[in-house]
Amino acid sequence: MVDASPRAAAGPARVIFLGPPGAGKGTQAGLVARHFGVPKISTGDMLREAIAQKTPLGLQAGPLMEQGRLVPDPLLIGIVEDRLSQPDCGPGFVLDGFPRTLAQAEGFGTMAGGRHAGGLVVLNVEVPREELLRRLSGRRWCPDCQATFHVHNDPPKQQGICDRCGASLIQREDDKETAVARRLQEYDERTAPLIGYYGQRDAQAFHTVDGHRPVEVVFGELRGIVESTR
Ligand code: AP5
Repeated sequence: MVDASPRAAAGPARVIFLGPPGAGKGTQAGLVARHFGVPKISTGDMLREAIAQKTPLGLQAGPLMEQGRLVPDPLLIGIVEDRLSQPDCGPGFVLDGFPRTLAQAEGFGTMAGGRHAGGLVVLNVEVPREELLRRLSGRRWCPDCQATFHVHNDPPKQQGICDRCGASLIQREDDKETAVARRLQEYDERTAPLIGYYGQRDAQAFHTVDGHRPVEVVFGELRGIVESTR
């Protein structure tokens, strides 16, 4: 059981997660956000919600996501800029899945006159490729409340049923083999360059963490890093 009980705010917590598909970004972003009392902003969840609602964004993003391709930069920059302008992001935010390309990183850097990028902490989660494949193939997801489980590492109490809301769990379409291969290729070609981008821009604020350890151990290290920057 991971203790992510909320901690009184000491200053804005602005956090970006980097890492390949299945590294545990979503899991850890949720814990960090809860601990520091700021919203977790997952672009993957926002897009999946748009697909479920059949909005124009969802209709454009759906086929690309199913194939494991990235959704065009201007769409992502637009939805993140809107979300960050909401009042609950004042004390900070944890970004999960954005930025994912150099164009998105540049776009983020100029949002709100550069204010969002001030005091930023970048957490890069590393996990060996065979473990990523194991995690993605075993992941099960709740389409109603977006909770994530794993058939071996983190099974629901009742097989196939969400612990939180009781809905039936599914395998994400993009967790199937062909889409996973494409997502890893997109990561290598378009997202991995952000490691150099942020590492060179502000080495003090950039941290690489070994994500191939139990969830609570990884979280303990991440929490310590964010606390030390506030
Ligand atoms: P998104 O939803 O962001 O997917 P992703 O980056 O591929 O990341 P994942 O959700 O697969 O993995 P994760 O690192 O969050 O791991 P998790 O914690 O779930 O994006 C999906 C798609 O949307 C993209 O492909 C793209 O099409 C589009 N998109 C989104 N953002 C975009 C953007 N900015 N630009 C363009 N397109 C965008 O964990 C995975 C599994 O491992 C779970 O089962 C979990 O229980 C388990 N697990 C977690 N931690 C551990 C641990 N420490 N030990 C063992 N198991 C663990």
